[in-house]
Amino acid sequence: MRQSRTPETFRVKSFGCQMNVYDGERMAELLADKGMRAAPEGEEADLVVLNTCHIREKAAEKVYSDIGRLVKAGGDKPPMIAVAGCVAQAEGEEIMVRAPGVGLVVGPQAYHRLPEMIDRVARGERAADTDMPADAKFAALPQRRRAGASAFLTIQEGCDKFCTYCVVPYTRGAEISRSFKDLLREAEILVEAGARELTLLGQNVNAWTEGDLGFDGLIKAIARLPQLQRIRYTTSHPNDVTEGLIRAHAEVPKLMPYLHLPVQSGSDRVLKAMNRSHTADSYLRLLDRFRAARPDIALSGDFIVGFPGETDAEFEATLRLVDAVGYAQAYSFKYSPRPGTPAATMDGQVPREVMDERLQRLQAALNRDQLAFNRACVGKTCEILVERKGKRPGQWLGKSPWLQSVHFEGEPAIGDLLTVEIVGAGPNSLAGKSAERRAP
Ligand code: 5AD
Ligand code: SF4
Repeated sequence: MRQSRTPETFRVKSFGCQMNVYDGERMAELLADKGMRAAPEGEEADLVVLNTCHIREKAAEKVYSDIGRLVKAGGDKPPMIAVAGCVAQAEGEEIMVRAPGVGLVVGPQAYHRLPEMIDRVARGERAADTDMPADAKFAALPQRRRAGASAFLTIQEGCDKFCTYCVVPYTRGAEISRSFKDLLREAEILVEAGARELTLLGQNVNAWTEGDLGFDGLIKAIARLPQLQRIRYTTSHPNDVTEGLIRAHAEVPKLMPYLHLPVQSGSDRVLKAMNRSHTADSYLRLLDRFRAARPDIALSGDFIVGFPGETDAEFEATLRLVDAVGYAQAYSFKYSPRPGTPAATMDGQVPREVMDERLQRLQAALNRDQLAFNRACVGKTCEILVERKGKRPGQWLGKSPWLQSVHFEGEPAIGDLLTVEIVGAGPNSLAGKSAERRAP
């Protein structure tokens, strides 16, 4: 059986948020460092890592069906299966019992131990590690070697906010900030490896702190890397926004005019039941301050419809908030009960049909605003960062400062900054005509 010898090839499948994508990249680097090769597209791998997400929907069920599929497809030579990520953290023990095909289960704070766990599985054991040590993981990971034009850098993990619907404080643990020194080093390495844009990641990215230094201080320090052209960050919490961060949007040209600031609902009663500790009005006032600092800032957010007890009138308040903001882009979800969270056992669970209808109405409003935002760009000239080739020959894809995808034709190199004129706009992307190139 393939399972009981050391795997030579691997595949990491990441689901969910950008932090999982980052973790997936780091796991792949770790496995490559151990001497394994990434399995080519279309070929079966000796080791499959399912890097799972637990935030919404039937994540756990999906994992079990993925495991079943892998075991079946492998026939008498099934791959070694590793379950990583937040489902592993939340359901580690249960996975081991329910899915004998799984060799190892590893939580998001323990994946630096993958190599030794793989060795144990190769010796015929099964291994589980869902410990949550603070900050040990990053020190144990190999140095980064490759980066695209745009790279992720996790600066902060975990969450202390305990929104009543959310599983993150339980799966990712308490808020921790990675050290300034380590972050600056990793940022330098990513830039040397080709990154021209860094997206700083964290569940509450703007809660990052070290001593007297706040998140804005970190942004300013990273902005000093000469080859680096752009900085982004996600996801922010309204309560951790400081005057310094708002000012950074006015003072740091490399900080892109984009803000993802989840609000979840426009109703103060629902926000209170969610334990969000901000009101619709305090959120709007915060956005006003960002807009005063950086008038062209593109705003994004997250919404949940059908939180337990949400009435029609409360949902209408969410639509009013959307109208007041005019988001450039946003994410919206139906409430999904997470076992173990306070909201899962609250009275007034909203019927599925009601949630469906509310989500449709909300998304229609958000799509309308997104298209309006994109259309307002037509005729403007802006700088785009070239990320990759497009689908059609001669076509390339880059990102505008406001995070829109821009298609254009030309002969650029990945990582170039080009000035383009926006000549067309759709709901999800812009068309550009390239004008001139600025060597980074
Ligand atoms: N149900 C639906 N959406 C959720 N989110 C978090 N937990 C849940 C849940 N139980 C959404 C929030 C959050 C985003 C990452 O996912 O909008 O901001
Ligand atoms: Fe979850 Fe709230 Fe923390 Fe965001 S702030 S990760 S929604 S608990």
